[in-house]
Amino acid sequence: MKYISLALKISITYFLFGLLWIYFSDNAINLLVKDLEKLQFLQTIKGWLFITFSSILIYFISYKLFTQIESKKEELLKSNELLEKIIENAPLIIFWKSNKGVYLGCNSKFLQLMNLSSKDELLGKTDTDFSILEKENFINDDMIVISSGQPKLNYLETITTKNKVLKILNTSKVPLFDDKGKIIGVLGVSEDITEQVNNQNKIKTQEELLIQQSKLATMGEMIANIAHQWRQPLSIISTLSTGMKLQKELNISNEEYEKESLDNINENAQYLSKTIDDFKNFFKKDNNKTNIYFKELFEKIFKLTQSRLKSKDIKIIQNNYAEIKFDTYESALIQVFINIINNSIDAFENIDEDKYIFIDVEEFNNKIVIKIKDTARGIKENIIDKIFDPYFTTKSEKQGTGIGLYMSKEIITKHLNGSIEASNIDFEYLNNSYSGAIFTISIPLNKDK
Ligand SMILES: Nc1ncnc2c1ncn2[C@@H]1O[C@H](COP(=O)(O)OP(=O)(O)OP(=O)(O)O)[C@@H](O)[C@H]1O
Ligand SMILES: [Mg+2]
Repeated sequence: MKYISLALKISITYFLFGLLWIYFSDNAINLLVKDLEKLQFLQTIKGWLFITFSSILIYFISYKLFTQIESKKEELLKSNELLEKIIENAPLIIFWKSNKGVYLGCNSKFLQLMNLSSKDELLGKTDTDFSILEKENFINDDMIVISSGQPKLNYLETITTKNKVLKILNTSKVPLFDDKGKIIGVLGVSEDITEQVNNQNKIKTQEELLIQQSKLATMGEMIANIAHQWRQPLSIISTLSTGMKLQKELNISNEEYEKESLDNINENAQYLSKTIDDFKNFFKKDNNKTNIYFKELFEKIFKLTQSRLKSKDIKIIQNNYAEIKFDTYESALIQVFINIINNSIDAFENIDEDKYIFIDVEEFNNKIVIKIKDTARGIKENIIDKIFDPYFTTKSEKQGTGIGLYMSKEIITKHLNGSIEASNIDFEYLNNSYSGAIFTISIPLNKDK
């Protein structure tokens, strides 16, 4: 429209200019010259002049127009090139199709994904022309976007290409509109997240493996503990029963002694079965938080560690936690305590002086703070930053795998939303100076739950 009116304006101006030129110049000549021959000659000159002027005018006008068109064309080419560069260099897979699903364009990342070597193999074709397992899904998604006029954003999809490689994509599809708002196609943008997803899966399986290993390691310790704890009651049972048998054989059996022995045997058998229950409960999967008193928690922990503690002559000193009660994943927390206590027991290996482990629990600011310290001379400063790393150990292969503290940290931070830190400390107890490691665990309390 703009150009029609401009062209009209130019031609009307030219028409009027021509009319006026003819009218005034004819009149002027008629006034000035009376000789018919001269008049004819002047008329011819006037005609020539008119053609010359108008040719010059046409020359300038068309020159201006053509240069304008040329520069517009260059601008357009430049912005087209820029757009192509953006599409090509964007770190994304980009393609667009007509509203009939025909491929109209793409960048080379899309060609790579489709295993195609040039755009000729793609343009003008539809998804049905390719042997892709998921093509029905692609066509469906295009249809949804085209028919609704709404974008479909950030959804996960897979594509299994010719050579059977599965790629995982995060894709968005948006409708393409023309100037009049009519949908003319669909633009797709995808990000290849295969590597990311695979890495996440790898981390997950590694974590699962670690949890499994740590359970096995703890189980090994438990079995050693059970064996330890059973030695005494089993020897009592065997002594009492052989004693009774002997009395019977010698015919000196005494009813009262027999009853007492049987009671004693029964008591010890019950103790054996109770230890089995304790350990069995420990390995049950902890899905629910239970409301427990710290006192009860520690009774369980001592039961599970006492044989090792007793045999190494290590004393546990406990402070002010009896009445503190809170919701927690009991066996996970027990596992943490056993890991820390077992580490202290190991650290006492070559120490003969007083062997103490202090456990101190406090409740403040809506959290529980537990401090466990020992008198085993501390953790070497050059390794203290690494002790929570998986597989970090200073022990021989038989003695340690290096996952005790890693798992403890996982449990405290991920399951209980708390924190755990380790440092060394010098302190006094009953007028004696000691140095050792101290582990500080802080667990937020959620009272209203
Ligand atoms: N109380 C402590 N005193 C001195 N060193 C400690 C103490 N607790 C931990 N460590 C050091 O931290 C390291 C890592 O402990 P962690 O419990 O993670 O592994 P580990 O005991 O070596 O093996 P695992 O527990 O898997 O059997 C230990 O090897 C030890 O060197
Ligand atoms: Mg350990």
